[in-house]
Amino acid sequence: MPVPGPGYSITVRLEAPPSASAAGDMASAVGRVGGVITAFDVVESHNDRVIVDITCNAIGANHVTDITDALALLPGVKVRKISDRTFLIHLGGKLEIASKIPLRNRDDLSRAYTPGVARVCQAIAANPEDARRLTIKRNTVAVVTDGSAVLGLGNLGPEAALPVMEGKAVLFKKFAGVDAWPVCLDTQDTEEIIRAVELIAPVYGGINLEDIAAPRCFEIEARLREKLNIPVFHDDQHGTAIVVLAALRNALRVVGKEISDTKIAVCGVGAAGSAIIRLLLKQKPGDIIAVDVDGIVHPGREGMDPNLQWVADNTNSGQVTGSLHDALVGADVFIGVSAPNLFGAEQVATMASDAIVFALANPDPEIDPLEAQQHAAVVATGRSDYPNQINNVLAFPGVFRGLLDANAKTITDEMLVAAAGAIADVVAPERVNASFIVPSVFDTTVAPAVAEAVRKAAGSAVAG
Ligand SMILES: NC(=O)c1ccc[n+]([C@@H]2O[C@H](COP(=O)([O-])OP(=O)(O)OC[C@H]3O[C@@H](n4cnc5c(N)ncnc54)[C@H](O)[C@@H]3O)[C@@H](O)[C@H]2O)c1
Repeated sequence: MPVPGPGYSITVRLEAPPSASAAGDMASAVGRVGGVITAFDVVESHNDRVIVDITCNAIGANHVTDITDALALLPGVKVRKISDRTFLIHLGGKLEIASKIPLRNRDDLSRAYTPGVARVCQAIAANPEDARRLTIKRNTVAVVTDGSAVLGLGNLGPEAALPVMEGKAVLFKKFAGVDAWPVCLDTQDTEEIIRAVELIAPVYGGINLEDIAAPRCFEIEARLREKLNIPVFHDDQHGTAIVVLAALRNALRVVGKEISDTKIAVCGVGAAGSAIIRLLLKQKPGDIIAVDVDGIVHPGREGMDPNLQWVADNTNSGQVTGSLHDALVGADVFIGVSAPNLFGAEQVATMASDAIVFALANPDPEIDPLEAQQHAAVVATGRSDYPNQINNVLAFPGVFRGLLDANAKTITDEMLVAAAGAIADVVAPERVNASFIVPSVFDTTVAPAVAEAVRKAAGSAVAG
C-alpha cells in the first residue's frame, strides 16, 4: 500500500487566525487525512492573522486535494497557494556549467582563450591522446538516451527524458566527481543513434547509455563498443547486474548457500534481466531459469530474438517449460526485473528453504515484500521505503570514476564482477544480515571502493 513520501512533497501557504490552537488544528487536519508534516514555518505575522507554510509528504494528486480540503474547512483558514516541491527543484533544470579557471584580466583571457589556446589545439592535433590530458575529456561522460524507456514510464521522448538524465548527471558528480552531461537524441532509429554517439564521442571519456528500450539497446551498445575507443556502458543493463550480483553474494552469505548450488529464477529478460543473467553465468550458478511475458525461456520456444535465443542456449539445463510459477518451484533465488504483482506468498512457499527474493520491478514489485517475507529468508526491492534497496547509484558513479582514472578504452565483464565484489565487501561480514545485504546509497566509501576495483581490473585488462 502506498505511503506518503518525499517524492510527492507539497508546501501549502495558508492564512490562519493567530490563536494559540490554530497550529495544532492545522496539524491535526493534515494528520487526519494521512498527510505527513515535515515543516511548519510562519512566513508573516500580524495582530489579526498569520501566514504559514505547511510542508508535508503526500501520496499523489488526489491526496493533495484531500489535505488542502481538510485545511480549508478549518474556521478562519484560507488556502492561498500550493507548491509541489518536486517541481520547484526542477525549475530551470538541475545543472550548470562552472569554469575551473579565473578570468580576471586580459592576461588570463589570453591563456584561457585566444591566442594562447591555439598552441594547445596544435598540441592535440599533433598528438590526439593529449585530449585526455588537456581537455574536459578526461573527466566527462555523456549520458545518452533516446527517451524510449524512461524509468518505468515507457516511451516519453527525448525532452521528457531530460529531467532523469540531469538527475543522473547530478549523481555522477555528487558520488564520484564525474562531469556528466545529458545527451537526449531526437531519434529512435538504431543507426542514427549509433552515428550520433560516434560523432559526439571526441568530447567524452565514456558513454553512459540510459533508458533506451530493449532489444534496440543491445545492438546499440555492442556496435558502439566496437566503434569507439572509450568505454560504453548501458546502465539499465550493467549497473543493475552489478548491484544484483553484489546483493546476491551477501544474501547467499546470510542463508549459507554457495552460488554453485543454487537454482535461480530470473523473471524479465529485457535490458536488466539479460545483463543480470549474463553476469550471473560468470559465477557458474547451479542453474538459471529465465522467464518472460511468454513464460519460461527454453531452446524449443518459437519466435525468439537473438537475445532470447542466447539466453535459451545458456540457461535452463533441464529444458523445463511452463510459467513463472513453475520456475519458482524449488528455486533458491528469485530475481524479478519484469512487471508488478506477478505472484504471492503461496508461490514463495514452493521455493527451496531459506529462499532469496529480489522483486525489483519499479515502482511496484513482482510481489509485495511483506508477502514475500512470510516465506523468504532475504527480500530486496528497488524501493527506498524497504530494507535492501537495489539501486544502480551504488555502481555507476564508481564504475565510471574507475574507468576514467584508468584511461580505459573499453569495459569488460571482469570489471563488472570486480565492481560487484567491491560493493558487497563494503558490508563487512559482521554487519551482513537479512536486512542489510547492500550498503546505503549514501555510504561515501562505496564509489571509491568500486572505482579502485574497476581501476585494478582495467589495469590487469591492459596488462593481460
Ligand atoms: N535497481 C532496480 O531496482 C532496477 C533496475 C533495472 C530495472 N528495474 C525494473 O525492472 C523492470 C524491467 O526493466 P527493464 O529495463 O529490463 O525492462 P524491459 O522492458 O527491457 O524488460 C521487461 C521484461 O519483463 C518481461 N515481462 C513483462 N511483463 C511480464 C510478466 N507479466 N511476466 C513475466 N515477464 C514479464 C518482458 O517480457 C521483458 O522480458 C522495470 O520495472 C524496472 O523499473 C529495477
